[in-house]
Amino acid sequence: PRTTVGIIGAGPAGLLLARLLHRAGVDCVVLEHRDRDYVERRQRAGTLEQTTVDALRDCGAGERLDREGLFLDGIELRFGGRAHSIDFASLAGGRGVAVYPQTKVVQDLVGLQLADGPPLLFEARVHRVTGTDADRPVIHYTYQGEERTVRCDYVAACDGSMGVGRQTVLDHGGRLFGRGYPYSWFGVLADVAPSCDTLLYAHSPSGFALHSMRSPTVSRLYLQVPNGTRAEDLADEQIWDALYARFEVDGDWKLRRGPITAKSVIPMRSEVVEPMRSGRLFLAGDAAHVMPPTGAKGLNLAVADVLVLSRALIDLLRHGRPALLDAYSDSSLRRAWQAEHFSWFMTRTMHLAPDQSPFDTRLQLAALDQLVSSPLATAEFAHSYVGQRLEGDH
Ligand code: FAD
Ligand code: DHB
Repeated sequence: PRTTVGIIGAGPAGLLLARLLHRAGVDCVVLEHRDRDYVERRQRAGTLEQTTVDALRDCGAGERLDREGLFLDGIELRFGGRAHSIDFASLAGGRGVAVYPQTKVVQDLVGLQLADGPPLLFEARVHRVTGTDADRPVIHYTYQGEERTVRCDYVAACDGSMGVGRQTVLDHGGRLFGRGYPYSWFGVLADVAPSCDTLLYAHSPSGFALHSMRSPTVSRLYLQVPNGTRAEDLADEQIWDALYARFEVDGDWKLRRGPITAKSVIPMRSEVVEPMRSGRLFLAGDAAHVMPPTGAKGLNLAVADVLVLSRALIDLLRHGRPALLDAYSDSSLRRAWQAEHFSWFMTRTMHLAPDQSPFDTRLQLAALDQLVSSPLATAEFAHSYVGQRLEGDH
């Protein structure tokens, strides 16, 4: 069998790319290692930038998002015992973010894909891609116990940071840049209404905390914890007490407590692979770059990659113009490094490192103070948080 674009991975990047290509009449196949249930339930991102919202609407996946998404006018930063609102409406040119979980994005895209194609195979594990430097790369995978291949004109590796795509680029002379962080996030889901209708990012003497939500009746909360912490290490009351202490500010504010239904520990890394291609194989999303979740960039960057990649592939396949595809790696890396910088900045400004001195903490508070009190700094932060427009978009 053969196809025009072989897509590895049915996360947000692979699923959206398939929709975009399908809509333009380009045939493709999506191969996903895990089963449908696993892919649709994996608890991850919660916020969508304007460009992501627009892309989902444009490809027909905006209906539930418009009904259930919570469109935010801003976010709140808490530090030094005080709350500071960052208002997007006046600062980010009418652009904003929506709180809408990745689980629902994936469910919506899988639903469309299974309804009208292109083919999506679950439990199809890719183990190798060969011939990326030749005219017809081949994807080798296992499906229903059988070894199979699919011959492609192009391969889009949307298979995350542990996938085959990244390894293929590295095996062909690519380079990995990365760093770790000396803390992790402890994430919980709780059956209780969110304590307020916005995202709260808190810097406190006992570390970082984030208040988010999944629905009007489900809260999503994160706490900074030392590396090595396990999900079973913290009892529910300990978690609520720590969250309460970290969000505390002058004035009246109440953290709503409720039954915790899920706990997990999320490690933090920053990684970029250069270049984002090897011959006819192109990396998109986490396959090319990961970042700590603090800046809420990963999913949005994955979407930006595939928007650009789909346009580039369509321009080549439809009009014979290779320029956009040739520019894909450079233009995507530029955007990725800016997102890496923002995520790194937000992470190191909001978390307490284990070896941090009181001097370091004062510097963090000074950076946060500037961020909320200098109109220029606030505007720049708001622009970075809601995300850049893609080149060529208005
Ligand atoms: P993935 O979603 O990882 O999808 C890759 C797919 O490829 C997977 O389904 C995998 O099973 C499949 N695969 C892997 N190997 C193979 C193989 N060999 N063969 C076949 N299939 C394979 N981002 C944001 O923008 N905003 C947020 O608020 C945010 N919060 C986050 C919070 C947490 C706790 C975490 C963990 C992440 C968060 N992120 C956030 C990051 C975001 O979830 C990821 O960046 C996003 O999932 C990337 O999408 P992707 O499609 O590139 O990769
Ligand atoms: C969520 C995750 C983030 O990393 C973030 O910055 C904001 C919200 C969330 O899971 O809801």
